[in-house]
Amino acid sequence: MYQYSLADAMTDKGNFTVPKTSESNMGFGVLGVFLGLLLEVSTHGPHTVPRTSWRHQDLDLMEFSEPGIFNYSTLLLSEKSDALYVGAREAIFQLSKKNVTVRNNKVQWKVAETPVSMCTLKGKSKEKDCLNYIRVLQAVNDERLYVCGTHAFQPLCDYLNLTDFSLTGRPEDGRGKCSFDPSQSFTTVMVDGELYSGTSYNFLGSEPIISRYSPSHSLLRTEYSTSWLNEPSFVYADVIKEGHNAASGEDDKIYFFFTEVSVEYEFFGKLLIPRVARVCKGDLGGQRTLQKKWTSFLKAKLVCSMPELNFVFNVVHDIFILKESDSKDTVIYGVFTSQWGNVGLSAVCAYKMTDVEDAFSRGKYMQKATVEHAHTKWVRYNGIIPTQRPGACINNEMRHQNINSSLNLPDKTLQFVKDHPLLEDPVLPIGNRPRLITRDVNYTQIAVERVRALDGNVYDVVFTATDKGILHKSVVSEGNVHLVEEVQLLKTSESIKTLLLSSETRSLYAGSDSGVVQSPTAFCGRYLSCEDCVLARDPYCAWSHRNATCVNTLDVPRPQHGTLIQSMNGDADKCPRVPGLAVKDYQQVTVKPGSSVELPCLVQSNLAQVMWKSNGSFLTEASGFHLIGDSSLLIYSVASVDQGNYECWSVEWAPAAKKNFSRLLAGYAVSLGLPTRAPDQVVQVTATLGREDAASTHAAEGNDNTDRAPLTPAIAPPSYTAPASVSILLTSPPQTDPSLTPPPSSTIRFHPKQHHPPSPNGPISETKAPAAEYLQHNNSSIALLFLFLLFFLLFLSALAYNCYMQYLPAPCMRMRAALLGSHKSASQPEYRACEAGLMEAPAADKIIMTEAPTQNGSQTSQNLRALRDTGYETEPECGNGRVTSHNYGDNCAPQEKPFDVDCDSQSIQFADADEPYC
Ligand SMILES: *[C@@H]1O[C@H](CO)[C@@H](O)[C@H](O)[C@H]1NC(C)=O
Ligand SMILES: *[C@@H]1O[C@H](CO)[C@@H](O)[C@H](O)[C@H]1NC(C)=O
Ligand SMILES: *[C@@H]1O[C@H](CO)[C@@H](O)[C@H](O)[C@H]1NC(C)=O
Ligand SMILES: *[C@@H]1O[C@H](CO)[C@@H](O)[C@H](O)[C@H]1NC(C)=O
Repeated sequence: MYQYSLADAMTDKGNFTVPKTSESNMGFGVLGVFLGLLLEVSTHGPHTVPRTSWRHQDLDLMEFSEPGIFNYSTLLLSEKSDALYVGAREAIFQLSKKNVTVRNNKVQWKVAETPVSMCTLKGKSKEKDCLNYIRVLQAVNDERLYVCGTHAFQPLCDYLNLTDFSLTGRPEDGRGKCSFDPSQSFTTVMVDGELYSGTSYNFLGSEPIISRYSPSHSLLRTEYSTSWLNEPSFVYADVIKEGHNAASGEDDKIYFFFTEVSVEYEFFGKLLIPRVARVCKGDLGGQRTLQKKWTSFLKAKLVCSMPELNFVFNVVHDIFILKESDSKDTVIYGVFTSQWGNVGLSAVCAYKMTDVEDAFSRGKYMQKATVEHAHTKWVRYNGIIPTQRPGACINNEMRHQNINSSLNLPDKTLQFVKDHPLLEDPVLPIGNRPRLITRDVNYTQIAVERVRALDGNVYDVVFTATDKGILHKSVVSEGNVHLVEEVQLLKTSESIKTLLLSSETRSLYAGSDSGVVQSPTAFCGRYLSCEDCVLARDPYCAWSHRNATCVNTLDVPRPQHGTLIQSMNGDADKCPRVPGLAVKDYQQVTVKPGSSVELPCLVQSNLAQVMWKSNGSFLTEASGFHLIGDSSLLIYSVASVDQGNYECWSVEWAPAAKKNFSRLLAGYAVSLGLPTRAPDQVVQVTATLGREDAASTHAAEGNDNTDRAPLTPAIAPPSYTAPASVSILLTSPPQTDPSLTPPPSSTIRFHPKQHHPPSPNGPISETKAPAAEYLQHNNSSIALLFLFLLFFLLFLSALAYNCYMQYLPAPCMRMRAALLGSHKSASQPEYRACEAGLMEAPAADKIIMTEAPTQNGSQTSQNLRALRDTGYETEPECGNGRVTSHNYGDNCAPQEKPFDVDCDSQSIQFADADEPYC
């Protein structure tokens, strides 16, 4: 059978092979491959764990929302002024981009009654659909914005005057510029006063369109044909100016990114394909052919796959184009998931702009071919291509041939491009694999900034937002990727709809249904030690020895950069040795005998392992201690042997530096206090006191400590590690270094003095990286639960079976009699035979019964024996029950079996038996 791997097909470079098998065969083959690899990928696939996790309540993020207003999903940053424009439901805001909590202007744009009633008449919901969702906000010039809203499924556009922040009130038709449906995918970009949109042109959303609206020309659009656009979900559009190519007279190009249903692959369902499409800015449509249609529309496939696992990420969710002055360095970043969303993997793929350009300027065309009757498929076009390359933008060469605009293009070329918009050559990602693969997240948005680190190298910092309100920040260097941190941007677990990045304000802006959040691009000040600062491998951050703080390098004048410590390898040996924590500085903990004590140790890094030492040797779980909340040590029922010094060590492996870094994070001297009469109460009292102390200390320090409840699972991202022990840290000595930025309430209160430990030589505790542990936690506990249930069920059925077989004594027999007694008369002829066959077995010979139940086919008895020997009897075979039970009538009929016996399925189960068992 022809094995046709979808992954092969979707990643193939040139040879489009038409599978020789029938469609359905291939469909199933593909499905098989997919199911196989879904399993493989979800268990063995690569994934990255964020090194640090920041919870929303620990960060001082700036947020904006107004009561009663939702869907803050359209954001526009002003380049020149201090403005962030926000399009929400029925309102447009102007916020300060330095601080989004500052609202400078607001205008409402509601829908009048007539359109609302028309909308509801058409079956749309008044509360959800028949409102005005602002979806287009584009700057026309410094004074005006072009604004469009869905306007109760009758999209309208208007100009927003920025001087007085008012709409002109003379709205124009928004069809083809803005979607009708507020929940439909959609993208726009404004280029030189012309609005390019990828949306749909009708109420039903069934007519996809890529259009250009300009005040001076009529709407230019795509042909309405599935070979042009086939149920696309638009995600992004942007312009690439051809400034550097001015000599060749190349036109600027507008790129559209979307996922659509493939026409070129056959599949048993709809197979989605991520695409990049392109049009030329100067396109005016054709003279006769393709009138008022794009003459330059071409599209190609984007590939984002893991070749070694044959796994394909075939849905693109967002694109960011990292533009460089030299377009050779321009990189396109995209976030992808698989159409089979339950795999829970997201990927970031990066593409060179030049590869995209090559695909369009040199790629081979595909064409629709009719094979076998009326069935069509897409294959490579091998015929003659018209001399003017179809879909090419007008350049100087063409102008020399008197083709000055698309109106002069020959009909032949236009007819060709009309029929062949799809290119065969795919756009392959840099390195032929994803830059980043993350498990258990759905990325929705991406933004990228190119940062020069102190080592002089340039790093791409990739910010990805998830559907749970989390931001991931990862650093790409030479093909390696490192997930620096995850940030809980939104209070609640909801999707981030828009993500913008401003290098000027060094901020990210995230729009969601409930509001707008502004976050700094780096949290350097939160790394409290040089090691943490360096191990973070954040190109924005470096350790300032002078100030003993982790600083944002942009805050430090360039001449002083030499004094900063940064290692993009994470080589923390560059950090200065500081005097170690002396034993006399250990925190004294006096415990009453018999009570329990919790020694906190807060580790910021999810990649670090925590190890506890007592009296200089490593503790293991076996020594009666317990690690709680990932890192704190719990000593039960403290006795005099438990006295001594306890140290918390973190060991972090820096893969790029190929070194382990060990640090002493906390030291305690535990001693016994006065015994008390009721040790049980003491445990309670100590615990409560500890927490109350913690709370009051917080309050005294004026920290906003109102919601420090740990993240609920609904809010918590899967890899979020919420230390349970935080509150007790308060008993630690106050922070010694006043120059540090005041840490948030849950960050380590005591600044662990740096210490260089002896290399761990004792037994290494089995602690896993907390995040890794957390990631596995769900799986393993579910697996345990599942196993337990399985065994329980097996036990029950074994019990039931044995009772049924009368292997168990009286009580069981009585129950059995009660259960079976009433069905005496229900006998069915087909079960007589099996009864007869089994009658011979002696009733008392239970043991022999187990060994050799019947004279039936030996295969069957072996099967049965195997089943019984293991005790995992789940399907009591019908015949055996009859051996001694003729008193109770014929129980062989399936509907009479008390223990889910189904003789019909038995014959399938034992299909290899010589004769039917029943
Ligand atoms: C708008 O926001 C509301 C409230 O969060 C949400 O239920 C709804 O799905 C959103 N609608 C769209 C179109 O995003
Ligand atoms: C990702 O999205 C899919 C589809 O919406 C959903 O089924 C899945 O649970 C999500 N996974 C995670 C980890 O959020
Ligand atoms: C630590 O050493 C002290 C003194 O040598 C001893 O009394 C105590 O039992 C030791 N504690 C542990 C936990 O080993
Ligand atoms: C680094 O530490 C980890 C955990 O303690 C250990 O498993 C690993 O072998 C160490 N690696 C090296 C190279 O020392």
